[in-house]
Amino acid sequence: MDTSKKVLFILESNKDLYTSGEEMARQCGISRNAVWKAIKDLREKGYDIEAISNKGYKMTGKSDIISVEGIKAILPENLRKTDILVYESLDSTSDKAKELAMKGAAHGTAIVAVTQTGGRGRKDHSFFSPKGGLYMSIVLKPEMLTDTDSKAVTSFVGNAVISAIRELTGIEPYIDGINDLYVNGKKICGILLESGSEFDSNTLQWIVAGIGINFDSDISSFPEDVKNRASSLFETGKATISKNVLIAKIIENISDCQP
Ligand code: BTN
Repeated sequence: MDTSKKVLFILESNKDLYTSGEEMARQCGISRNAVWKAIKDLREKGYDIEAISNKGYKMTGKSDIISVEGIKAILPENLRKTDILVYESLDSTSDKAKELAMKGAAHGTAIVAVTQTGGRGRKDHSFFSPKGGLYMSIVLKPEMLTDTDSKAVTSFVGNAVISAIRELTGIEPYIDGINDLYVNGKKICGILLESGSEFDSNTLQWIVAGIGINFDSDISSFPEDVKNRASSLFETGKATISKNVLIAKIIENISDCQP
């Protein structure tokens, strides 16, 4: 892991708390000067990091940048080895997850993107995926599930997302349609489940759960046909939790429980 990532993991694990440069240097096995360089690098990437002499550095709650380190800092210890990949932009996180699933990716592998240029919904619909949303796909291996019936998996994934949102925000979305999540009559999340099987033996090999949440999305910028039916968990810039926290909770709920 490079130095900036190690420092980022410490800052994300201690959000809003000061850690001294000396302590960071010790934990990362680097010099204090290297810590300072890593802090500079992270600030250039947009992280809001405060520094006070004699106290050290702290990342403030203003930093809501999706990263592997930010997600893993929140995940319980037993899930920190999960393969998590974060991209600035992808055509579709589900396409990437399917590609990896076909190459044998492990149960729980998670692909996250800040934006998608070709986000897909059910029935060949497109899924508008601008900045402000949360787009992730998780590989599920049938051998790790107690029930692979499509209804069971659909409701399991939908409920994993609902409980993550409820636990972290107090907002209680409900399932409408096949697997859309609504709040006050407006769609805040779409879920797309896809699978691959061996044709000869009709054996299910993988499932990819694609989850798209309007997190603090600017709904006024959405296409006309979805604008009136869509809503966002938070108003833009007014989120009370970070995207990393919600992503980690969804990964935890999906990895720890089984349908
Ligand atoms: C729907 O509303 O019909 C389902 C939408 C699913 C969107 C998510 S966003 C992450 C993943 N990648 C995609 O291309 N689609 C799913």
